[in-house]
Amino acid sequence: MKQSRTPLHALIAGIGLLGATALAHAGEVEVLHYWTSGGEAKSAAELKKMMAAKGHTWKDFAVAGGGGENAMTVLKTRVVSGNPPTAAQIKGPSIQEWGNEGVLANLDPVAKAGGWDTLLPPVVANVMKYKGNYVAVPVNVHRVNWMWVNPEVFKKAGAKIPTTWDEFAAAADKIQKAGFIPVAHGGQNWQDATVFESIALGVGGADYYQKAFVKLDAAALASPTTEKVFDTLRLVKKYTDKDSPGRDWNLATAMVINGKAAMQFMGDWAKGEFTAAGKKPGTDFICAPAPGTAKAYTFNIDSFVLFSQKSKDMKVTNDLAASILSPEFQEVFNLNKGSIPARLNMPKTKFDDCARLSMDDFVATSKSGGLVPSFAHGMAMPSATQGAVVDVVSNFMNSSMSSKDAVQKLIAASKKR
Ligand code: GAL
Repeated sequence: MKQSRTPLHALIAGIGLLGATALAHAGEVEVLHYWTSGGEAKSAAELKKMMAAKGHTWKDFAVAGGGGENAMTVLKTRVVSGNPPTAAQIKGPSIQEWGNEGVLANLDPVAKAGGWDTLLPPVVANVMKYKGNYVAVPVNVHRVNWMWVNPEVFKKAGAKIPTTWDEFAAAADKIQKAGFIPVAHGGQNWQDATVFESIALGVGGADYYQKAFVKLDAAALASPTTEKVFDTLRLVKKYTDKDSPGRDWNLATAMVINGKAAMQFMGDWAKGEFTAAGKKPGTDFICAPAPGTAKAYTFNIDSFVLFSQKSKDMKVTNDLAASILSPEFQEVFNLNKGSIPARLNMPKTKFDDCARLSMDDFVATSKSGGLVPSFAHGMAMPSATQGAVVDVVSNFMNSSMSSKDAVQKLIAASKKR
């Protein structure tokens, strides 16, 4: 699965877009998303329910493919043909790229009425604004640096849940000898990058991560730490099974759920799968920070941008934006999705221990400097840079490229715009 690499501005250039944006019918909400796995679909259904309750018709625009590459390709085609949906799941720096095209609705009236500036932590609100105006609305905060564990498999293998990458190797050896797959992995480029960024955080710490993968600092990328990160990625690969290439992430999660595999490195959308399968945290499965990352947090904020529509359609747009930030929606959506609410001061009562740990760590790391954006999930780099960096990681994972060569390729990729 390849990302469409044509820059957005090149695709949209020259098209009389704003004049042609109102093809969606009044009262009809068409939302592009890529939430098609069990837990994800249950979460998306909550949005549909809420909009139906307001009298709007939901037109589902789901494009399968974890991480959303397929969805973005389809979205570009729709926008270029002058027929954007009501809203689309867009996040991170891409919001700025879409803002530059002048196709997004200004949500400031809804944001002012709803007091979004006080409801949202600044780290979240900043991502939602283009030139100081709200153009996107957040649904959640996902933590990416998790390790999902089947405790029964660890017990049978006599292995200890690892807190460092050295301990990981010791545990993985035991698990393999006991006849289980140590690491459930799906060999798709975004999943390779997800594992890589957790390793980078664990091996190098939040400061290194920030310099190398957010500031794209060449000296940090060229440091011996980056070589060690690639070495560790190769080590993890050794403990995956031969059927991993191409596997969807939720099928990898299922391997942990049904006891075929011991662990998976994946964001907490994986918890949505455990929950949908009726599994309980602490007993049936364990959520632990990826080795070495207990004091850090890679965040991934899902959000929707809403496209400019002719005024008659703005009611739908405004209703959708307001609904997404309502406490009711933020609660029910995130209980299903595995993430935590994007808005502050939500009651924790219904949330499980994994979500509570995520809530506490989000606050603690935002004070300690351990809170960093996930690059594998589109929160840290311009999309062209991200595509190039992810390709290097994935090519390394699927070849015998040396860690030294990979570092050089990574430095080159970090310059791509
Ligand atoms: C992430 C997204 C999550 C989840 C995951 C797998 O990028 O933020 O909401 O859907 O991909 O598709």
